[in-house]
Amino acid sequence: MRARRKLALLALGSVLAGTAEVSAANPEWGWQGMVVSSVGPAAAAGREILIEGGNAIDAAVAAGFAAGVSHQFSSGLGGGGFILAYLGATGEVLALDAREVAPAAAAADMFLDAAGQVDPQASRLGGRAVAVPGLLQGLHELHTLHGRLPWARVVEPARRLCREGVPVGVHHRRMLAFAQPYLSRFPETARIQLADGQLPPLGWKLVQPDLERTLKAIARRGPQVLQRGEIAEAMVKATQAHGGVLTLEDLASYRTRRRTAVRGYYRGLEILSMPPPSSGGIHLVQMLNMLEPFDLAASGMNSSETIHLVAEAMKLAFADRAVHLGDPDFYPVPLAWLTSKSYGLKLARRLEPRPFWRKPPWLWGRPRVLRLERPGTPPPDDGGTTHISVMDAEGNAVALTQTVNTLFGSGITAPGTGIVLNNEMDDFAAAPHAPNAFGLVGQSANAIAPGKRPLSSMTPTIVLRDGRPWLVVGSPMGPMIITTVLQTLINVIDFGMNIQDAVAAPRFHHQWRPDHLLLEPEHPQDVVARLEDWGHPVRVPEFHFGASAAILRDPETGLFWGGADPRRDSAAAGY
Ligand code: DON
Repeated sequence: MRARRKLALLALGSVLAGTAEVSAANPEWGWQGMVVSSVGPAAAAGREILIEGGNAIDAAVAAGFAAGVSHQFSSGLGGGGFILAYLGATGEVLALDAREVAPAAAAADMFLDAAGQVDPQASRLGGRAVAVPGLLQGLHELHTLHGRLPWARVVEPARRLCREGVPVGVHHRRMLAFAQPYLSRFPETARIQLADGQLPPLGWKLVQPDLERTLKAIARRGPQVLQRGEIAEAMVKATQAHGGVLTLEDLASYRTRRRTAVRGYYRGLEILSMPPPSSGGIHLVQMLNMLEPFDLAASGMNSSETIHLVAEAMKLAFADRAVHLGDPDFYPVPLAWLTSKSYGLKLARRLEPRPFWRKPPWLWGRPRVLRLERPGTPPPDDGGTTHISVMDAEGNAVALTQTVNTLFGSGITAPGTGIVLNNEMDDFAAAPHAPNAFGLVGQSANAIAPGKRPLSSMTPTIVLRDGRPWLVVGSPMGPMIITTVLQTLINVIDFGMNIQDAVAAPRFHHQWRPDHLLLEPEHPQDVVARLEDWGHPVRVPEFHFGASAAILRDPETGLFWGGADPRRDSAAAGY
């Protein structure tokens, strides 16, 4: 055990300077601060605000607005998000829940047909998929609490992007190609996002005058603009025209929630992450607890041995997710137990030796094997979420993950507002064991109820070293968010990679159901073959997993290192 600890400390030592000696790609750097996002123009907007004297909070809010304008398919005013912030001056940790909620008229059986079968289309496209948006309230609350620059100033970069246009990048265009077939059902969205109904060429400028008008009103009057009045009415009307149940009362009564961050410890570092109604923080800590007894550095980065071990930990965590996780205002989530070292150790004993377990922890010792009504679907090639990481020289750190759920959410844009409405209702379990768009299953803990928040996987995370922010990270892509954040962390902590290499390295994913070990295509053939030999049902889909956005601060020099994921139109903007 002592030798293991020594190795882990050695690994930690090698990353303190932020650059491993042998590096595939050099990270971005900055002395005053850093903004990283899977949406390039959002990182630039955040940097602009830092340069102007804003703090990390101002920069995160500006980047949040800018991301929602630039990649409307992934996040924006019609969606929700989670914000984790560490305040350098006081050491306070803010975990702000701006998650969408189910409308008052929502019902547990709203996505079942007369025969009791789930209609998956209904929770994914059209009006019934829409939950009450919360992002704007979250950004406003964060800014009111801890921002420095005027509110209108942090909204300005997003307004400018609406006016001047956002050039369509490679990922953006790929997402439009993916959405184009169904956007014909949503003419207002197609009118704004496509070029005369056609897939635009690279570099085509997305100009959004309607959204600019909405942001102008928000800059003047704040979040009430989406709670009552003309724009709110347009959102309700559009949702109802597409068969939804959203009302003005739902919009007016939306409230953010302040939560207590999940805390965990991994190899002497303190992990802060998002608590329920996101499952992200709990399962991140749970997986780290399971892996801590193992010497990952010795088994090697992305070796079959390591992938086997980590994938088994992923399976155990996702099995627990399916029964124990939901909105804590409606269901008593056993957070302390799931994140405890003792439970982690108990699960760790199941990770070795090969071959691996098949039953979820809550069925151990019982003869029954869980029955799935039908197999899950693999996660779609989807860009419906964005992450933003920010750090500044005052010791502030913000991790903000925002979403409309899947690509272009419900598909609906409220005419005249430029706002794309989410389809977050699909994150509920429409029926026990019926998989959602990401193949995730759930039970009563995540059943639909009016005013309830659907379970999320968003994992905005801040890692403290000696009590100060050391690493900030998060990612999009449904359940792959949690496993992407996990792999970014172990790549730095266990394998000593620099932050850019850590976010770019090939990833793998297992979510228990469906029983597939998903590998990105860059994994070498001998690794894949060995995993198959050991009995893993390996699949190599044609898409890549997540888009990690991470910052590491060198505690010795104070220098910021940024890692931007090449899987999307990402950027790291240092200052
Ligand atoms: O909250 C969640 O977990 C999902 N709504 C996130 C969806 C997502 O990340 C789509 N991806 N790129």
